[in-house]
Amino acid sequence: MPVRRALRGRILSFEADPAEVGDAASHLYLEDGVVLVEDGRIAALGEAGDMLGQLPEGTPVDDHAGHLILPGLIDTHIHLPQTQVIASHGTQLLDWLQKYTFVEEQRFADFDHAARIACFFLDELLRNGTTTAAVYGSVHTESADALFAEALRRNTRMIAGKVMMDRGAPAALLDTAESGYRESKALIERWHGRGRLHYAVSPRFAVTSSDAQLEAAGALLAEHPGCYLQTHLSENPDEIATVRRLFPWAKSYTDVYDRFGLLGERSLFGHCIHLEEAERRRLSASRSVAVLCPTSNLFLGSGLFDLAALRSAGRPVRVALATDIGGGTSYSMLRTAAEAYKVVQLRGQRWSALEALYAITLGNARALGLEGEIGSLEPGTEADIVVLDARATPAMAHRMETARDLAEQLFVLLIMGDERAVRATYVMGEPVSRA
Ligand code: GUN
Ligand code: ZN
Repeated sequence: MPVRRALRGRILSFEADPAEVGDAASHLYLEDGVVLVEDGRIAALGEAGDMLGQLPEGTPVDDHAGHLILPGLIDTHIHLPQTQVIASHGTQLLDWLQKYTFVEEQRFADFDHAARIACFFLDELLRNGTTTAAVYGSVHTESADALFAEALRRNTRMIAGKVMMDRGAPAALLDTAESGYRESKALIERWHGRGRLHYAVSPRFAVTSSDAQLEAAGALLAEHPGCYLQTHLSENPDEIATVRRLFPWAKSYTDVYDRFGLLGERSLFGHCIHLEEAERRRLSASRSVAVLCPTSNLFLGSGLFDLAALRSAGRPVRVALATDIGGGTSYSMLRTAAEAYKVVQLRGQRWSALEALYAITLGNARALGLEGEIGSLEPGTEADIVVLDARATPAMAHRMETARDLAEQLFVLLIMGDERAVRATYVMGEPVSRA
């Protein structure tokens, strides 16, 4: 007998990018709908009036009437060992790394510490409605082992890797080109493709990896083409100047990664704020992904992501959205999208509520190449689901009194919402977090 569950509420699921097809054609919306889940996957969805009478006998119905049912949210760049770095005062990127981050990350040599933090981390993601994330560990294999083990236990779809870093940090945080390669390979063999887990080869950034280590990262990718690549690119002017000094042969920061074969459609480049046009062209041609991390970019004073320049017709760069905890300041993808909206505003550009909700669901799923599994409520996909209450706080409920249509309601939810708006989170059809 299949395990079944139905959810009733206001269903919103994207089918296309609103920036490409317009808001109206981009999504399915049912004011009073039902999603039927069977054995962890979406089996059907439709109007409650049609569906309720046809549900197989005994199917429990979770009543979320009046609340929004969306696919689980996706965070494409976050650091496991920085849950106790978030909100560290007073520095920009390179000093912040030395003063706070590289101190805290040393604690992850201890598996028990890593396991405790991994447990908190996944609890917190799910409490925020985030069901999939691309996660950086510390340099220690313990950090990746702890996260993968906990994600496997909870059956969440997660992408993660230990960072590779062989220079530019305290000795206790350094691997070598050889050990970084060997340990990453062992982690790939141990975890990649197990349950819902994926490995991301993770050279931290060009400042902390030698030529030899970046070459080793390229070899890992070539040997394991199903794996992801995640790193940081063009976040801060001092960082970019350091990269120029360390790689005098390179035409640009992007060129450093390009020379070692690190660009591609499974490559996620965090930040991409200060790119030159030639770099955007290479990212576009290689189908690499530029990851916008707005709360981090504002908190660390890094700069304003130029969405329009990246998306420019002719040579569009694929874009994703992420928290970047602990440079970022909120685990909530709603709040992250709200800050992205403000960054877009500061650039004099426009972004609709539907574009933002697309970005944190199907948009991020597509950026990860996982739209066949997650990111929508399409029948056959995995039933990772979030239920949002657009009236979660008195101020939201008060504002909602004057919201005239769905687009306006969604915009209020986006700008005022955070984890308090998360009514329930489901992983493969099972409720895991309820406010
Ligand atoms: N660049 C290299 N490492 C990091 C990190 O941990 N956070 C951010 N925001 N940028 C980085
Ligand atoms: Zn980061």
